[in-house]
Amino acid sequence: MNKISIIGAGMTGATAAHWLAERELADLVLVDVVEGMPQGKALDLLEAMPIIARDVEIVGANDYATTKDSDIIIITAGLARKPGMSRDDLLKTNADIVGKAATETLKYSPNAIFLVLTNPLDTMAYLTLKLTGLPRERVIGQAGILDSARMRAFVALETGVSVENIDCYVLGGHGDEMVPLTRHSNIAGIPLKEYLPSDRLAAIVTRTRKGGGEIVNLLKTGSAYYAPSAACAQMAEAILKNKNLIVPCAAYMDGEYGLKDMFFGVPVMLGRNGIVKIVEYDLDDEEKAMFEESAAAVKETHDALKNLVAF
Ligand SMILES: NC(=O)c1ccc[n+]([C@@H]2O[C@H](COP(=O)([O-])OP(=O)(O)OC[C@H]3O[C@@H](n4cnc5c(N)ncnc54)[C@H](O)[C@@H]3O)[C@@H](O)[C@H]2O)c1
Repeated sequence: MNKISIIGAGMTGATAAHWLAERELADLVLVDVVEGMPQGKALDLLEAMPIIARDVEIVGANDYATTKDSDIIIITAGLARKPGMSRDDLLKTNADIVGKAATETLKYSPNAIFLVLTNPLDTMAYLTLKLTGLPRERVIGQAGILDSARMRAFVALETGVSVENIDCYVLGGHGDEMVPLTRHSNIAGIPLKEYLPSDRLAAIVTRTRKGGGEIVNLLKTGSAYYAPSAACAQMAEAILKNKNLIVPCAAYMDGEYGLKDMFFGVPVMLGRNGIVKIVEYDLDDEEKAMFEESAAAVKETHDALKNLVAF
């Protein structure tokens, strides 16, 4: 059995464990700083396994030694956004938490692939890569599957068409400047621009960009966790089953799309060793301009991090 360790057993981490256990992909470890909480959640989930007929071992812990020999480490430890708080406000606190989680777990699982969710996402993935010194194939941020799923859900609500027929591609940084690529998005092969009136499509793009904030405002405490953790489970499954699945994820850029030394949301192929390759679309001038704006916002947070943490 494969092994996945989830650092941070809060809403996103625990729900990721739920989705992963249902897929019977790997034995699971939940780690958190709160004593008893990861153990309690792990035991509760373990007791659900006979009911859903899944043979998965699930344990909770407050130490990193329990994560030994993990195939995948998922990092969701940190603070979530509160209403009115930007993702970037979280930078310093979450950098300390993620930096420790990444370097400590690597000692016990030197071959693991790291999936990062903690916000500000692109910059926490960058920090993980820099502090661990891992090759870029093995550090991947989750954002684009979630942002694209939100757009797909909104298109389904608008049109009444099955979500299975709707393909949307939201790239760029995991912030308000994310880049919904309407030209590449389609319903059963028909471009969205042809299927929907332009004002409806524009409204969907705006709602997608503000999708995380919409949920934060509704919940009042905490942020989205069902869809983000489902996205994370899809990434883990693609890796462990060596599917060569192409999905939008945050990856370290080394010249792709004209970007260097930064994480950015792009289509990546996921297989057993992590990122197999980065897929490059031909972008038109309007899309290039949106990419540049989004990249500038991500770079700004990367630069802020570099002022706080020495690599
Ligand atoms: N990338 C995405 O799409 C995405 C989606 C959802 C949440 N997030 C981010 O993930 C993070 C967690 O969100 P959440 O909703 O699960 O929050 P949460 O508050 O429910 O859970 C966070 C957990 O991290 C734990 N924690 C804090 N410091 C720790 C440490 N040093 N070691 C281990 N655990 C530690 C806390 O005790 C808590 O249980 C936030 O930064 C949030 O913004 C990102």
